[in-house]
Order: sequence, then C-alpha cells, then structure tokens
Amino acid sequence: MSVVARLDNVSLRYGEKVVLQNCSLDVAEGSITCIIGLSGAGKSTILRLLNGLRKPNEGHVYVKGTDICHMSERALIDFRSQIGFAFQFAALFDSMTIGENVALPLREHTSLSEEEIEKIARTTLESVGLENTFTNFPSELSGGMIKRAGFARAVVTSPDIILFDEPTTGLDPIITHLLTDTIKRLRAKLNATAVVISHDLQSIYMMADYIAMLFEGAIIAYGTVQEVRKSSNPIVQQFLQGSEVGPIPL
Ligand SMILES: Nc1ncnc2c1ncn2[C@@H]1O[C@H](COP(=O)(O)OP(=O)(O)OP(=O)(O)O)[C@@H](O)[C@H]1O
Ligand SMILES: [Mg+2]
Repeated sequence: MSVVARLDNVSLRYGEKVVLQNCSLDVAEGSITCIIGLSGAGKSTILRLLNGLRKPNEGHVYVKGTDICHMSERALIDFRSQIGFAFQFAALFDSMTIGENVALPLREHTSLSEEEIEKIARTTLESVGLENTFTNFPSELSGGMIKRAGFARAVVTSPDIILFDEPTTGLDPIITHLLTDTIKRLRAKLNATAVVISHDLQSIYMMADYIAMLFEGAIIAYGTVQEVRKSSNPIVQQFLQGSEVGPIPL
C-alpha cells in the first residue's frame, strides 16, 4: 500500500481541550478512507490537519511525502489547490451563482482565461448532475443539490486528494445513495484519494476501501469494511450497532 497522507503521532489541543492525542493514520493512495467516530471526536479536525488549515501541537502531518507542518503560509496556499475540500456545511457564497461558486478555486489558483474557467466549471457541474444550475443562486437549490455543488467546487481543480466532511448528513436515503455514488465516481475519474467523514454506515459500507475509527483522540480501529465490521473491539462494535450498552461513556 502506497501512503499518500499520514498523521504521525499527532496531538492537537484547542486551548485546554485535548482533541487528538498520539493520533496516527495512514491514508492509502487511490483509496476511499472513511473516518467514523462520535460527534465532537475530532473528525473534522483531522481533515483540517490534512489540508494545513490547522497545525498540530505535536507530531507531523505528511502529504505526498512533505511535512506540511513546516510549510510557509504562501506554500500552503499553493498546496491547498491540490486538495479538494467539500465542507460539512457546503459553505457556498449565497451572493454568488452556483457557476461562480464552482469557478472560484480556478480564479484563485490558476491563470486560465474566463472562457476556459466557465467551460471547466460547467463540465464539473455536469459531472455531478447539476448541468442546469450555473446561473442559479444557492438559495434556489435543494439540500442534496447544494452538497453536489460543494463537491463540484471541491474537485474543479482536479485535486489528487479530496476531503468530504459529512457529505450525506441530513439527506434522504435516495439522495444519500446518489451522493455516495458520486463520491465513488469522482474519485475514480480523477484517480484521486478520498477521505470521507460520515455517520452513515450504509453509505460507508458501500464506498469505503478502508474505515478508521477515531475514539478519545486516536484511531482505535483501521481496516477494510469487512475487517472493521468483524472487529473484536467492544467500542467499535457498540458504535456500529448504535447501542446504548457498552464501554462508550454517554
Ligand atoms: N476552533 C475551535 N476552538 C475550540 N474548540 C474547537 C474548535 N474546533 C473544534 N473544537 C472542539 O473540538 C472538538 C472536535 O471538533 P471537530 O469539529 O473536529 O469534531 P467532529 O468529530 O468533526 O464533530 P461532529 O461530528 O460534530 O462534526 C469538539 O469538541 C469541538 O467543540
Ligand atoms: Mg465535524
């Protein structure tokens, strides 16, 4: 397995609050790696570390062989253009059309002409099934469409790594299925690596090459879907069963 990103013994605190402690994770190149864990466990924090939005208090974060903790802000800005981020709350600009939102990373990171930018933005919207929304505003779209527009913005620069933070939370089962499929397709099309945070076990079982479970600051289980589902760790089993009974403090 070739590793494209690695958290190496990372500890991270927000003030006094310890969120990650000696947390290590290898992300296999070309995989879909799903991170699961309790609300507030630090899953979004891991994505912020992987694209350099946060630096750890201790440990290292390697992406494509480079320790990004020592990059200058300037270098980080360039680096981030190779990493797509579909945020937990889509984070589209309400005052911009869907087309303008999707085109934004191209405007920021490339010197392509207006024509080329519009062409790529349109093709990318098509690739997520939103061909007719270019001139719509986010407020005119459904929740599932907003998520897909967020995906389009995340992949418009053809990144090598795509981070999806809760791509299906709060959506109906059919849209969830559609979005899960879209993630698989986008990953394959770009020949990229995807790291996906999700609470939706059905969707995870459908797309994950690997599952990593975060608990009390560290990854306590890692493996294929089959391996993790068969884990003998009672914490993993309680989480997957959604049971109130077990070792997880409520
Ligand atoms: N900027 C911040 N300042 C202070 N505390 C923070 C900050 N960001 C996150 N936290 C806290 O750190 C913990 C981990 O946050 P994080 O968003 O990574 O969790 P999460 O696993 O993504 O949760 P959720 O499932 O609710 O999205 C939470 O308790 C959160 O309140
Ligand atoms: Mg989160």
